Amino acid sequence: MKSIFTETEIKEFIKANLKPEKYRHTLGVMAFAEELAKKNGVSAGKTRLAALLHDCGKEIGRHKKYMKYVKFDSFEKKIKPVWHNKLGEVIARKYFKVKDKQVLSAIRKHSTADKNMNPLDKIIYLADIAERNRKYKDAVMIRKAALRDLNEGFILALAKKIEYVLIKKKILHPKSIEAWNNYVK
Ligand SMILES: [Fe+2]
Ligand SMILES: [Fe+2]
Repeated sequence: MKSIFTETEIKEFIKANLKPEKYRHTLGVMAFAEELAKKNGVSAGKTRLAALLHDCGKEIGRHKKYMKYVKFDSFEKKIKPVWHNKLGEVIARKYFKVKDKQVLSAIRKHSTADKNMNPLDKIIYLADIAERNRKYKDAVMIRKAALRDLNEGFILALAKKIEYVLIKKKILHPKSIEAWNNYVK
């Protein structure tokens, strides 16, 4: 793990700062992300750390002192569900002293995706949507696709997430569109 904290210490922080179902989700993300990492030759340590921290800022109200370091773009300002991405990255950097750029990138990109997604970014994005506590039909389908092929799974996950945002008539962050246009074939 690339932090001055041990995995157990980080887990304690996450458990204390997330609702029980979100903590369960985090453990699910760790397990599925590690499975995907093994299949795709990605570092297990980085994957576990990124997965463990990906939702660390989810309870925004608990981390007010870190909000001042977060810079939202004009779209992010209007999309509250994505605030915890950049907030989580700040907590990882400032509190957990994580310096690894790949780990920070995966935390930052885990719900909007991005034009450039490295394998760890894709793994955390996918595991967030399709970890084994997610029981809905699309999650099962995405999980199977991801296990077959990381890119195939990523495109499917992105499509389903964009579809969800459109059907709910919510604002779609341009980064999701850029990711789509860059990775779809
Ligand atoms: Fe999240
Ligand atoms: Fe998550």
